[in-house]
Order: sequence, then C-alpha cells, then structure tokens
Amino acid sequence: MNEAIKPGVDGQTQEGPELSVIVPTFNERDNVTVLYRRLEATLPNVAWEVVFVDDNSPDGTWDVVRELAQKDSRVRCIRRIGRRGLSGACIEGILASSAPYAAVMDADLQHDETQLPKMLLLLASDKADLVVGSRYIEGYKSEGFNKQRAGASALATEVARKILRVEIADPMSGFFMVRRDRFEQLAPKLSVHGFKILLDLVATAHGSLRAIEIPYTFGARQHGESKLDSLVALDFLGLVLAKLTNDIVSLRFILFAMVGGIGLMVHLATLFIALQLIRVPFAEAQAAGAIVAMTTNFIMNNFLTYRDQRLKGFAILRGLIMFYVVCSVGLLANVGVAFSVYDQEPIWWLAGMAGALMGVVWNYAMSGLFVWRK
Ligand code: GDD
Ligand code: MN
Repeated sequence: MNEAIKPGVDGQTQEGPELSVIVPTFNERDNVTVLYRRLEATLPNVAWEVVFVDDNSPDGTWDVVRELAQKDSRVRCIRRIGRRGLSGACIEGILASSAPYAAVMDADLQHDETQLPKMLLLLASDKADLVVGSRYIEGYKSEGFNKQRAGASALATEVARKILRVEIADPMSGFFMVRRDRFEQLAPKLSVHGFKILLDLVATAHGSLRAIEIPYTFGARQHGESKLDSLVALDFLGLVLAKLTNDIVSLRFILFAMVGGIGLMVHLATLFIALQLIRVPFAEAQAAGAIVAMTTNFIMNNFLTYRDQRLKGFAILRGLIMFYVVCSVGLLANVGVAFSVYDQEPIWWLAGMAGALMGVVWNYAMSGLFVWRK
C-alpha cells in the first residue's frame, strides 16, 4: 500500500493525510526539529502532516521549519506577518489543514505526543468529536508547572467550569484533537485573541461536542521560555465575560472596558495625590488625572486589548496623540448623554452610568478606527 493511502473514516481508502498536527510557534527554533522527529517516531502507521504556524519569530523558527519542509512534504509552514496570538494561530492552522482530524499541540515538547495515536483512534472510531489531553484527571502528572502557576490555573479552571458550565476537567489545556468538520462549523464564532482556544471552543459549542479526556504528563520546557504572562489572567476574564453574554459583547470590547475601569481608578488616585499631597487647584488636578489616566489606558490597551496589533516605535506617539483626541471627544459625548438623561430622569447614578457607557462605546469604536486601525 502506498504510504499516503490509508483507510479513511468511512472505511474507504483515502489519499492525503488523516491527521493534521497544528503547532503554533513563537521563538521555538531549538524545539521544532525535535518535535518533528518525535512525531515521525510516534505516528508510523498514520498518514499525518504537521502545520507549523509561526508569527514571524525573531529567532527564525520559520526558517528551520522551511528546511524541514524541503526534506519532507508532510511538513508545512505558515508564516504570519504583522499578527500575534496563540488562538488565532491555532485557528488559522486548523482551517488550512485538510485531514479529517486536527490536533493542536505546543512546540516546546511539554505535550506528550505519544498520546496522539490513542486520541486519533477515539475520534476515528466515532467515540468522540473532541479528545482533550487533560492534566486534571486521574493519571495526570505535571513537571512543567511551578506552584503559583498551578494554583492560578486550577482557579481559572474552576471559574470556567462553574460560570460557563463547561463540563471538561481541563478546558485550559493546549493539547487536543478535534474533528475538523465540527471545528469548522464553530470557527466563525471563535475569538482569535487570547490563549484559551479550547475553552472558547467548548463554551461556544454549548455541549454539542462529545468530548473525552485522557490524562497525560505535562512535561518541563526544554528550550526557550513561556510566552504566557500575567496579562493572560485578564485575557481569560474577558473571554469568560464574552461567552457569558453569548458573544454579544466582544472579548476586545470587554478588555477595553476593563482597562477603562482601571483607568478610572488611576484618575482618582492621581486626583487625590495632586489635591491632597501636592495641593494644586482642582481644575489642574483634574486635568492631570485625565492625562495620566488616558496615557496609562493607552499603554494597557496597546499591551492587552490590541496585543495582536501592538503599535511600536514611532507609531506609538501618533497612536497616543490620536487616543487623546478620541478620549477627549468621548468625554464630551459622555457628559452630553449624562446631562440629557438627567434632564428627563433626575436619577444621578442612572445618568452617570448612561454617560459612562456612551463614553466607553465611543472610545472603543473610534480607537478601532483611528488608533489601532486595521
Ligand atoms: N504563532 C504563535 N503566536 N504561537 C505562539 C504565540 C503567538 O503569539 N504565543 C505562544 N505561542 C506558541 C509557543 O511557541 C508554544 O509552542 C505554544 O504556543 C505555547 O506557548 P507557551 O509559551 O509554551 O505556553 P505555556 O507552556 O506557558 O502554556 C501552555 O499551557 C497552558 C496550560 O496551562 C499552553 O499549552 C497554553 O495553551 C495552555 O493554556
Ligand atoms: Mn509551554
């Protein structure tokens, strides 16, 4: 039998791969070749391909992948320019693959590739639509987590399971295999922002994916470092809120609004310092508060809300100035709406909230058009 011809799902012979392994990479130069060799060793009886989705890594990971692809046509490389983000990379990789089953795994050898044949068998025998490599069920061992990270991960998992009614034990896992046709149906509703693609997938499916979890050992990272920072926590919160509102409110808007909330506190803190400690007049103190808050909001949005299209170099200055302009007009809109609501219904908190909502919606819409435009 030709190497690439294998019995397909329906028992008929099928040409082309049966399994696509999607590997998002960012600065994983030293890991990709090792991973490729391990896939080769662990999948001798499967027609597989591997799709590396690299966000133009400064260490030239894509270059190493291309070299592998030159020698083996089962290796493919998607090199994305001007974009960053784990979820988006995974989605793009799965959509670019052609096999009936798609696995997602990290490049850094923390996921146990020897589980892949078992996962494939479960899908191919139609026992499930999704198989998750899980760290929270019996048989699981972890070498790759420090105490703090393990605690945060467990807490986030509990929150997701309670609030989003996600049934699986480890919705934060970055290691899973899914039927591509089922994934493709759900893909238009998935967020390309953030890290939590599996949680997003399961929450979006509303129980329509039959999932099985298998335990695996989360190994220690061999080379390079983790790209998940503390901003991921906020990112997670945004995703939970977005799914709670059934995607009426986008993850990006929620992040923007959360940053706005933090900005309000920054404003009040600055006002307090200026009035009480430095003792400047109120108007000046209020102006200082506004400028400090707008600046920190801009920085936070650039790092979190728009991390996938982060402004760099000279564009930062231009973006900051535009952000000041947008927010100043937003403030006028805010006060205007609050006044007119108060005029009709003199309830101070209702008018205040209506104004604030108007302000944040305005700032969000205009920032997307003029500051982080794409
Ligand atoms: N293309 C692309 N773009 N790939 C990325 C990006 C990005 O912006 N950020 C990270 N990656 C790649 C990394 O190169 C790695 O292959 C994989 O995504 C996971 O990134 P790590 O930085 O190694 O994440 P981690 O080990 O801290 O987190 C893992 O475990 C978490 C569970 O606690 C990941 O599997 C997470 O998805 C998972 O939630
Ligand atoms: Mn990792």
